[in-house]
Amino acid sequence: MTAGSHASESVAIGAERRWAIVVALIIASLIIVMIVTGLHWSSMPPSRVETIDPRTLHLAGEFVESNLGTAVGVDGKVTVRLVAQQYSFMPPCIVVPADRPVTFRGTSTDAIHGFVVGTTNANTMLIPGFVATFTTTFRTPGEHLMPCHEYCGTGHEAMWARVQVLPAAEFLARSHDSERLNCVPR
Ligand code: CUA
Repeated sequence: MTAGSHASESVAIGAERRWAIVVALIIASLIIVMIVTGLHWSSMPPSRVETIDPRTLHLAGEFVESNLGTAVGVDGKVTVRLVAQQYSFMPPCIVVPADRPVTFRGTSTDAIHGFVVGTTNANTMLIPGFVATFTTTFRTPGEHLMPCHEYCGTGHEAMWARVQVLPAAEFLARSHDSERLNCVPR
């Protein structure tokens, strides 16, 4: 063996060792993140899994048709409940207030669907058997398209709903008239 190949071998070993240290540090930091979130937030990946029977959700419980739409709780909390199915959302037009936290709760009866509200960060997948939930605040009044963003079959590209963000006062005035709000034309 020559002196030159000795030198290149030790360069290679050094480089490998450096990369091994980098990878070990990345793995160690991921484990630290998991431990901290597990202890501090009591969360497990995946967190907060809520299940539901997709065969019976239209018959009883939270996702019966009369309970879909936007509800204002006695505590003033705003909750939107929706169901996705091939190829529509129920309700197809959703009203929410601006500048207030809005909690979405949704599920699917058949295939995997999903939605995003315009260019906002309101975005989730809807999977049969699971309840998807998130809370967001819409800053400005206006109207958004809400397309299905998971390929769900031949009618996928025609599957979308509308979301109307109303000024908070206007929304609250409307919420006195009915228990479950939507903006589906009657
Ligand atoms: Cu539903 Cu794509």
